[in-house]
Amino acid sequence: MNILLIGSGGREHALAYAIAKSPLCSRLFTAPGNPGTAAYGENRPELDVADHAAVRAFCSGESIGLVVVGPEVPLVAGLVDDLQAAGIRAFGPTKAAAQLEGSKGFTKELCAQYGIPTAGFARFTELDPALAYLAAHGAPIVVKADGLAAGKGVVVAETLDQAEAAVRGMLADPGAEIVIEECLFGEEVSFFALCDGTRAVPVGTAQDHKRVFDGDRGPNTGGMGAYSPATILTPALEREVMETIIAPTLDGMRARGTPFTGILYAGLMLTADGPKLIEYNTRFGDPEAQVLMPRLSSDLVPALLAACEGDVSGIDLRFDARRAALTVVMAAAGYPGAVMRGSVIRGIAEAGASNDVIVFQAGTRAENGQVLADGGRVLTVTALGDSMMEAQARAYAAIARIDWPEGFCRRDIGRRAVAREVAGGGI
Ligand code: AMP
Ligand code: GLY
Repeated sequence: MNILLIGSGGREHALAYAIAKSPLCSRLFTAPGNPGTAAYGENRPELDVADHAAVRAFCSGESIGLVVVGPEVPLVAGLVDDLQAAGIRAFGPTKAAAQLEGSKGFTKELCAQYGIPTAGFARFTELDPALAYLAAHGAPIVVKADGLAAGKGVVVAETLDQAEAAVRGMLADPGAEIVIEECLFGEEVSFFALCDGTRAVPVGTAQDHKRVFDGDRGPNTGGMGAYSPATILTPALEREVMETIIAPTLDGMRARGTPFTGILYAGLMLTADGPKLIEYNTRFGDPEAQVLMPRLSSDLVPALLAACEGDVSGIDLRFDARRAALTVVMAAAGYPGAVMRGSVIRGIAEAGASNDVIVFQAGTRAENGQVLADGGRVLTVTALGDSMMEAQARAYAAIARIDWPEGFCRRDIGRRAVAREVAGGGI
């Protein structure tokens, strides 16, 4: 079958790596793709994925049997709806179901209606009631813009002054809506479930590092590194998440007439009162996909097809339980703010020469045989190991071979997992 993958990030490079391995995949196209995805098939940078009619025409022309949508923007724009209406099989939620990611307010209302554990919250469109709420609740408190913000629309305010500044800033945009919520404490875990509209099967765990600087300091980003598995999420906690968070979400979405199909990615806080939902994403994570896909020992494509066909009950995606994966993001100086594009990156092939290392490309472009930086998060360097400590050492050894003075990375990815492993003896 010919498969079209939509997106151009490190996540799409990792998905291309997994999809191309499938015996079911005859030809893989990625639109727009990046120099990394080009190694597994054909990039189609000229295909405008915001033009749904053009994507439909491409699918007919190339006999595409499955479209896999990587990022959230085309999901929220209804690409899956428009493909399915034309009889084209597409993996991912419809526009209405993607509201779980597209609107924080929507998700919070669903949680309230179905008793899904999450932080206490209120929604605002006007300044005075929002400021009154802040004054009544005090700091620390969390302020979020309602819509998509690439992980950057959230301020965890330590003081009321910070919270007030965030509220004023976000509500300054005409028509803006914000959510103000209780600050949760605990360790964060990313939990992934493959959903067919009715049922869900767990498909792996990871931990992300959201802050830009070492020691979890600085502003939030799309993610500076990740590792998998997240052993802090024990099998008992995983069952609790499936029962108290994922299942009621699917029931609620179905009851509303907008069943959820695709990857439901729950960002969880493991609080003293049990796991609570911080937010949903409606797709694989980036950089979490870069640690999940290399550990996957099952064929990904039948799982995606089963979700599209409405029955994931027979799907059992297997991860190599004895292998840990850790990925470190290399970003352009200035990220998550403005970055300079066009600097030359050398040493990618040398860094990825070992069987245990894969350099996933994200914000890069190829020009005259060179790889140039072309975005904020530019590379994700993933290493596998028999322990998290080994994976971490390999990832940083690979990074040392990359010659890119204009880039930077966090030096402490996996620190807590390695410490836990040393204390507990094992992944
Ligand atoms: P979100 O985009 O909602 O995932 O938020 C981004 C990050 O902000 C999360 O990964 C957390 O680190 C932090 N965050 C969001 N909501 C809360 C909360 N209620 N309490 C504490 N931290 C939060
Ligand atoms: N790593 C966070 C995300 O994919 O949204």
